[in-house]
Amino acid sequence: MTERNGKEFGLISRLNHWGVAAIFIGMLCFGFYLEFGDLAREVKGPLWGVHKSIGTLFLIFAVWRVGWRIFQGFPQEVAVMPLWQRFTAKITHWLLLLAVLLMPLSGVLMNIYGGRSIHVFDWFVIPSQGKNEMVAGIAHTVHEVAPYAISAIILLHIAAAVKHHIIDKDATLKRMIVQTGK
Ligand code: HEM
Ligand code: HEM
Repeated sequence: MTERNGKEFGLISRLNHWGVAAIFIGMLCFGFYLEFGDLAREVKGPLWGVHKSIGTLFLIFAVWRVGWRIFQGFPQEVAVMPLWQRFTAKITHWLLLLAVLLMPLSGVLMNIYGGRSIHVFDWFVIPSQGKNEMVAGIAHTVHEVAPYAISAIILLHIAAAVKHHIIDKDATLKRMIVQTGK
């Protein structure tokens, strides 16, 4: 049975949610740190390699995670909420799913169409596709600008989860952690 008919997130959905959330937030922090942190050039170079490798592998996890949600659908909300809150939650969840795909994809595209190959941990190489300034330019702009908007959306998302848990005292956060039997 898919999740769209029930009020539960299954184990796979919960593992997907927290696995992707941890790696994604880690990668956002890593990217900002490399971009703005006070690191020596010779340290930064290899660390960018690690950022690219993790990000490229993450794309596989992201496709699986988003595909699983689309296939499963969203379960019904556990809380009774005003229309604007249900609408904001829906939009936020879809934007987060988009972000999870957009960040690794834009990273890969800006590299391979910027004339650079991606060496994923010396395991395999995604070859350069030559230079396509339009694709590389759009992907680069997305990769540099989107993280600010995405960070704001994630903060809003976390604040909403905390509010549901502490103020409304409903099962919104709980059902993302354990099986509630509903
Ligand atoms: C989960 C996926 C990813 C996240 C969350 C992420 C996040 C970030 C962030 C926050 C920045 C700093 C942006 C800024 O200063 O405005 C950044 C920069 C960068 N990322 Fe990623 N990234 C991801 C995947 C990738 C991938 C797959 C690649 C390449 C294969 C990549 C390559 C780069 C490069 C080259 C920069 C520096 C851009 C520049 O300054 O010109 N990233 N990333
Ligand atoms: C500490 C951080 C986080 C907390 C506490 C949290 C909490 C939650 C909770 C309680 C729900 C269930 C909402 C409901 O029942 O309708 C949820 C759903 C969701 N969250 Fe998070 N979340 C966090 C981080 C993230 C991150 C970083 C992302 C993506 C980048 C994300 C993406 C989603 C999505 C897409 C959903 C909709 C259901 C699904 O497909 O998993 N969350 N989150």
